[in-house]
Amino acid sequence: MRSTQIRSTFLDFFTSRGHRHFPSSPLIPSDPTLLLANAGMNQFKPYFLGEVTPEFPRATTIQKCARTSDIDNVGRTNRHATFFEMMGNFSFGDYFKADAIAFAWELLTQGYNLEKDRLWITVYQDDDEAEQLWRKIGVPAERIQRLGMEDNFWSMGVPGPCGPCSEVNYDRGPAFGREGGPAVDGERYVEIWNLVFMQYQRGEGDKKGDFPILGDLAQQSIDTGLGLDRLAAILQDAENVCGTDLLRPTLTTVQELAGRDYPGSAEEKVSFQVVTEHARSIAYLIADGVLPAKDGRGYVLRRLMRRAVRHARLLGIDQAVLAPATASVIANLGGVWPELTAQAALIEQVVTAEEESFTRTLAQGTRLLNAAITRSRENRSTTLTG
Ligand code: SER
Repeated sequence: MRSTQIRSTFLDFFTSRGHRHFPSSPLIPSDPTLLLANAGMNQFKPYFLGEVTPEFPRATTIQKCARTSDIDNVGRTNRHATFFEMMGNFSFGDYFKADAIAFAWELLTQGYNLEKDRLWITVYQDDDEAEQLWRKIGVPAERIQRLGMEDNFWSMGVPGPCGPCSEVNYDRGPAFGREGGPAVDGERYVEIWNLVFMQYQRGEGDKKGDFPILGDLAQQSIDTGLGLDRLAAILQDAENVCGTDLLRPTLTTVQELAGRDYPGSAEEKVSFQVVTEHARSIAYLIADGVLPAKDGRGYVLRRLMRRAVRHARLLGIDQAVLAPATASVIANLGGVWPELTAQAALIEQVVTAEEESFTRTLAQGTRLLNAAITRSRENRSTTLTG
């Protein structure tokens, strides 16, 4: 199934079940506590907190998300990305666990035709109700696993709504990893859909689970996120997003620039994926108004550009890479995301300037490093001081 059909299947399913389709919010969020939009629920935070009463109790979106907490995993796993589209359905004090679970099961097994016995479920350790609901729908007990705060309790990472969650994971088969379910191997049993049962409010604190719960929300709500990249990889039988129709044209551009084929060696495979995946994030960030800077979201963008250039050089690409790679993202995805096409000239200008200046910095740094290494060797040392 092509990605355009994956998106339309999702939106049709939820709009025909009373959800209002809202556009994605920009990657620069209106919430001052967030650097970048990182989940579909961001734009609805005031609804979950009960600060604003929504006009519609049910919503659905396809949200542009940027997350860099797993940046070092890009290309090293099949599931991590710094940008992705998250398809979501939301209930603001309307339906809760039973309907969220029933909707997800019906769409996955009938809308996307995923095999039932490849779906594994995780629930929060104390959530007997969620486990019972999955059992009732037909998931056998041996494919339901209970996990703790770290895996099955979702919060924004900043104060706001939060709650236990239940994840739907797809078994990609033995070629992808070890047996034993998502509790054992997240690569083989890849998380595709996260259903969050929003019912508490969190305060300040560590994002890994020891933050204070300030109390119950006034109403129980639903926030879900189904990853388009991961679902496309499954439905298109691709190893990862670079092999799907979302990014294959960009991977082709990078291969042409490198003058060799993906995957190559293990390290080259990582580099191909980093350049391809980061090109997409870079294009979307600039289209939404992020410009390279020394700090904040501008620094996130700069870091993505520098990483992409460095990995391109490792592939032997000595000419400009960011302009052609982002141009191919725009050509491929601009029909779905018109802001890419509208900002194509700006994207080209920003990436070209940044790549030129980084290339100079890199050349100068390499000269200095080589000189230091030579001096060190002359002194018969194998160590450079920090
Ligand atoms: N907010 C949840 C997540 O980001 C579900 O959408 O995983």
